[in-house]
Amino acid sequence: MTQEFNPINKIEGTLELPGDKSISHRAVMFASLAKGKSRIYNLSNGEDVNSTKKCFESLGIKIKKKSNFTEIIGNGYMGLRKSSHDLDAGNSGTTTRLISGILVAQNFKSKIIGDESLSKRPMKRIIEPLSLMGGKIQGSANFTLPIEIFPVTEIRSINYEMPVASAQVKSAIILAGLHCNGITSITEKIPSRDHTERMLGLKSKIISTGKTVFVSKENYPESNDYFIPSDISTSAFFIVLTLLSKNSQLKVKNVSLNETRTGILKVLIAMGGKIEIDNIKQSSGEDYGDIIASSSELKNIVIDQKIIPNIIDEIPILSIAGIFADGKFEIKNASELRGKETDRIKSICHNLTNLGLFVEEYEDGFSCSGSISNFYPAFESFGDHRIAMAFGILSLLLKGGGKVDNFNCVNISNPNFLTQLKSIIN
Ligand code: S3P
Repeated sequence: MTQEFNPINKIEGTLELPGDKSISHRAVMFASLAKGKSRIYNLSNGEDVNSTKKCFESLGIKIKKKSNFTEIIGNGYMGLRKSSHDLDAGNSGTTTRLISGILVAQNFKSKIIGDESLSKRPMKRIIEPLSLMGGKIQGSANFTLPIEIFPVTEIRSINYEMPVASAQVKSAIILAGLHCNGITSITEKIPSRDHTERMLGLKSKIISTGKTVFVSKENYPESNDYFIPSDISTSAFFIVLTLLSKNSQLKVKNVSLNETRTGILKVLIAMGGKIEIDNIKQSSGEDYGDIIASSSELKNIVIDQKIIPNIIDEIPILSIAGIFADGKFEIKNASELRGKETDRIKSICHNLTNLGLFVEEYEDGFSCSGSISNFYPAFESFGDHRIAMAFGILSLLLKGGGKVDNFNCVNISNPNFLTQLKSIIN
């Protein structure tokens, strides 16, 4: 479906958005591993988290949607059962990589498949460390899906230095480490999102080369009640829209404020964004609170290499803020963007060029300057939810509006995006 967007006047109101996607995946996984009944409040309703739920149902876990929570009855340690069919991770890299960490420790065979986009994404990054742990895991010839995982009687702990900043890889090793008697240690030079460590209450220490986290069987999850704060990555689209609109103010309630995720707020504030945080609370070891954004004049800044892993999912919408900000917008040290749902460097550059902007593509990023000359552009989503939403927001800010193809892909993270948008457009 191609979605058309008309120019807006102003943004006003309050939003309460579905649960954070990363935390939701983990809550479903930990509840499925634990013994007994867990409840998850405000679970993400996106297709990615549905893929995780379906995979665990196929592995013998009972998951029920109740009126205001999701109930999961886990079978406890080694309680998963062989699936009668391939596990379909859909479009979800998080499902694939994290579940692999669990499946390598099982005494039955599994096969993970996914859609066209997921089938192109790099899996060597998990196959290598999980094989070091004694897992029998095999991808296709070029280390992509389908992944086959063969039964083992035992896996072993390792000490691993992360070659890339990736929470998915780190979490896959942690999940495998939950099945080892020995202590597994994982060291990262640049910290990636740490939801897995927080939710499992893992110990860590800061060392000269970075941060090391420790995990063993002792940390195996127990049943729990989870309250999932709203997704900061989803909120970022509405926050940037508000900053860039005249006479506008928006409150987004109960948003995850984990400091490995709030890089987008730090960058937008440094660009001159009027953003305030209020009403901070805590749940499952995570801070959350209300974010209030108001119309702002933005200027581009140099974006530090260290913050890139913390804004990696927000770069599509940050680039929209960047093209309206004073000066040249530039992203570097972000080659990880090439292995996301699409090659996001290519997708963003393609759409920005279509606007008449001067765009330079680098191996690890891009820059963009000049002024918009195409006032009713047709953007391509490339089937990537974050590209679709970013260019939908941009379309609302153009004199003549704009359109985005294959817009249904927003269902991956936020099926109610258009309804939420409607409720704050004035
Ligand atoms: C995620 C980690 C990030 C992020 C993805 C979700 C997670 O990926 O881009 O959307 O939930 O662990 P990487 O681990 O590949 O950086």
